[in-house]
Order: sequence, then structure tokens, then C-alpha cells
Amino acid sequence: MSSAHALRVTVVQNNPSFGTPEKNRKDVEDLLFSQKDPSSGLIVLPELFATGYQFVSKEEVGTLSEPEDGPTFAFLSSVSKRTGAVVVGGLPIQRKNGISNGALAVLGDRLLVSYDKVHLFDRERDFFVEGHSPLPVVETPFGPLGLMICFDWLFPEALRSLALGGATVVAHPANWVLPFGPQGMILRSVENRVFTITANRVGVEERGGLAPLRYIGESQIVSPKGEVIARADSSRPEIITATIRPEEALSKKVADKSDFFAQRRPELYSPALTQPGRKSS
Ligand code: ACM
Repeated sequence: MSSAHALRVTVVQNNPSFGTPEKNRKDVEDLLFSQKDPSSGLIVLPELFATGYQFVSKEEVGTLSEPEDGPTFAFLSSVSKRTGAVVVGGLPIQRKNGISNGALAVLGDRLLVSYDKVHLFDRERDFFVEGHSPLPVVETPFGPLGLMICFDWLFPEALRSLALGGATVVAHPANWVLPFGPQGMILRSVENRVFTITANRVGVEERGGLAPLRYIGESQIVSPKGEVIARADSSRPEIITATIRPEEALSKKVADKSDFFAQRRPELYSPALTQPGRKSS
């Protein structure tokens, strides 16, 4: 499929039980294949969709982690073969220097890309190692796909770098707990003129005496114009789908003479130029 074609996008919003990856993968499979027509071009699953999120120790992270070519890769690959889709989902990945909070994009038997979350959120910083590679843009049958994970969205540079790298569609596995994610991502989509596909989870985790985490759901598909094409419920596991045209993300124009990318002034964005009291000439 070239980027001039319509692309069916599928988002899975699940409610994983902590520490039971086989059951959680099976629940995702049941959700996906209970659809009348499960075929798709892109399927996005949440961050850490098979393990759960609220780890209480490094040992726990270690036990639930996998190599890149482990059971989660096998699962994403089997879903890809059954649907025809590029399939994206999050998992704890074993790396040389520790475990990353990562995501894979898989097409058939091929690992298109793996990504280690660059901006770790809150207690993730106690358990995971940060990614050190640029946020990835990968060629797919429907054009360039960008990848980021949850909290990355609150660093505007993350999605901007994916858009500048040519991504027309950005897959965004998430475990949102902060309330402003769904609305905030609308602006991210508009300022970068890209489709954003956020797959969040639902449910509550309260482990090891820690404060409960309530995941807010509201997985969504947002257009480059900021239209919420589809949005899921805030508490129910479900699938949302939409048909999009990735080429609509190629123009960065918001008005005839205003192009978000052509009008950028990176030479003026240095913090050194924003010292208080500096007079403009
Ligand atoms: C998050 O980055 N999972 C909030």
C-alpha cells in the first residue's frame, strides 16, 4: 500500500492483570478477533500491555522482561500475520545495561524497529534504563511511522522530531494516568500536522502499599487538523478503529502563507536568547 491509500487503524484498549502476560495477551487476542473484520493496516497496543505497569521492585521487572525476540515479539508477529497489519505494542525489553520500557513495531516475521522510552515517568526511573537512541521513524507499507511511548508526549521535542523526520502517522502506546493526555495530544497533532494514535489502558493498580494508579483509557485517533476521529471509553476495554489517509499529514500548512515547518526559526529558540531583561533591538 502506498501512502496515497486509505489506512485502517486499530487501537486496542485493554485492562491487563499485573504479572500475567499470557492471560493478558489472550485477552488482547480475544478483543481483536471478536471484531467482524479484524483486518487492519496498523494496530497499536498500550505501553507494557501484557505485564501491567505498577512494578514494585527491579526483581519484578527482571522476571517479566524479555529479549526483543521473546514471547511478545512472537505474539505481535502472529497478530500481524492474521490481520496484515504493522503491529505496535509495549514491553519491558532486556538490554545490555538493564531493562528498558520499550516498544516493538512488527510486520509479519520482521521486527521493523524497537524503541526504548527516552523520557521515563516517575517511579519508572527506579526500575528502567532510559533509551539513548533518537525517537524512531520507520518505513512501512503505508509510509513513515513514528514511535513514542506515553510520557514522551509531554516533551514537545519528541513528537516534533518524529514529524521533522517525516512521520505522517505516530503510534503512541501509553499508560496514561494524568488527566490531560487526551486533550493535550490534540495540540501535539495540530502543531506537527500528523496523525497520532494513542493506545491507553484502563483499570486500577494498587500494589506493594503504593498509591493506586487509575488508568484513564480514552485511547484515541487524532487527525493532523486536531479532529478526534475516534476515542475510547474511560473505563472499559475496547477496540476503536478509523480509516485515515496518511498523505493528509504531508502538508504542514495551516493557512496559505503559514507553514508550521517552513516558518520555524530554530536559530531563535536558544534559551540563551530568553534571559530576563534583555532588550529587543
Ligand atoms: C507514563 O509515561 N506511563 C505515564
